Amino acid sequence: MAKAIEVEKQEIFKKGDPYYCPECQREHKKGKIYNQHLKYVMTPEKEKSEENLIEKDDNEELEKDMQAESKEGYMDDFYPEGEENELLDEISEEEMLAEGEDENEDNANQIEECLEAVKNLPGVGDATFRKLKKAGFKSLESLAFTPPTIIQQESGLGEKTVASLIKASMEQLNIGFKSAEEVWEQRKNITRITTGSQELDNLLGGGIETGSLTELFGEFRTGKTQIMHQLCVNVQLPREKGGLEGGALYIDTEGTFRPERIIQMAEALDLDHQKILKNIIFGRAYNSDHQILLIKEAANLIREKNIKLIIVDSLIGHFRSEYIGRGTLANRQQIINQHLHDLLRLCDIYVDLAVVVSNQVQAKPDVFYGNPLQAAGGNVVAHGSTIRVYLRKGKGEQRIAKIVDAPHLPEGEAIFSITEEGIKD
Ligand code: GTP
Ligand code: MG
Repeated sequence: MAKAIEVEKQEIFKKGDPYYCPECQREHKKGKIYNQHLKYVMTPEKEKSEENLIEKDDNEELEKDMQAESKEGYMDDFYPEGEENELLDEISEEEMLAEGEDENEDNANQIEECLEAVKNLPGVGDATFRKLKKAGFKSLESLAFTPPTIIQQESGLGEKTVASLIKASMEQLNIGFKSAEEVWEQRKNITRITTGSQELDNLLGGGIETGSLTELFGEFRTGKTQIMHQLCVNVQLPREKGGLEGGALYIDTEGTFRPERIIQMAEALDLDHQKILKNIIFGRAYNSDHQILLIKEAANLIREKNIKLIIVDSLIGHFRSEYIGRGTLANRQQIINQHLHDLLRLCDIYVDLAVVVSNQVQAKPDVFYGNPLQAAGGNVVAHGSTIRVYLRKGKGEQRIAKIVDAPHLPEGEAIFSITEEGIKD
């Protein structure tokens, strides 16, 4: 029997011969598809060489990427060229400008401490340490909370090594089974960030809770982004004023972060706006992969920058638009689920960290009774978030918030306003 012929060897191909089809990546011998896909074998020489050229360019680009990646470490592969480490550059530039030398030294000590902990894990020699550091695993937390397959891929370490590194990191961080008493002890440490509105705080049991993921969902202009801006300011307040004396990490997927609004809100509270801005670390996520990686990198920033609040505005916008033609709904849900679990893991480990995400609502035209609006992302997001707040418009500046399935809060509603000075009663 004649052997299947590859495209490259088309000059000796005769119709009726079996051929290797590059489109289906298998052999066709006869039948309908044989005839339909003949075009791939019969491609004129010129076009084919153009196709090859394009493919070659792609390969070269991929190779360049891989080289750069192995040189620079994993943070670099999601920044387009020229924009490399924009987030990190921004941070370090701001640091240089505004932060005192002492603070810089503190940060450096923190980073050094985290690295030292990784270095001291049992079984970590020089080579392993170098690989981990290069791949961005610079703290016990980042090892304990990244799925093993990802650590393997990024660092190039073997399965067994990675498993024992994760186990050791988890032991040192005291993660694993606990008694309910320990859970209660931990919950006693939960603190809250004020929203600026007494009514909304009351509804939430005192404000946005640390150690939990809060989801704000509602239609456009219902105040999701405004509340998130306000929280970035309020988290920096002293504890007696409803803050956590910490910084915020703001992941913006929609391009709606406005520093001028932060300034307005800070000034309304008599705070030095420059200081407030400096303690908000901003990352613009241009696509869903970028968004996922920013959250993975967050594990390293939390300690280093004393982050007490992580904002993702909005959680699934990118996934929704990207996954239309890019695989099945199940695939999209699985990726959102993983992303959400990355966030929930952060809440689990840092008892004094609050995570707040926003979610667009989509109209469900097939619902004729009840509220036709439903949070996008379906059940995956509903099950992952710990506190869900539904926002809707009231009269003028007024907005109405309603708690939807929080494990420990009674259902109820609160009315608040979006004013020039920010979120108020
Ligand atoms: P989407 O992102 O479109 O889904 O909406 P959102 O829920 O994030 O809405 P957002 O938080 O951006 O709220 C927008 C509303 O806030 C506007 O309708 C304004 O009424 C109000 N708002 C925004 N900035 C100001 C301001 O400076 N002063 C006052 N008084 N209101 C403002
Ligand atoms: Mg918004």
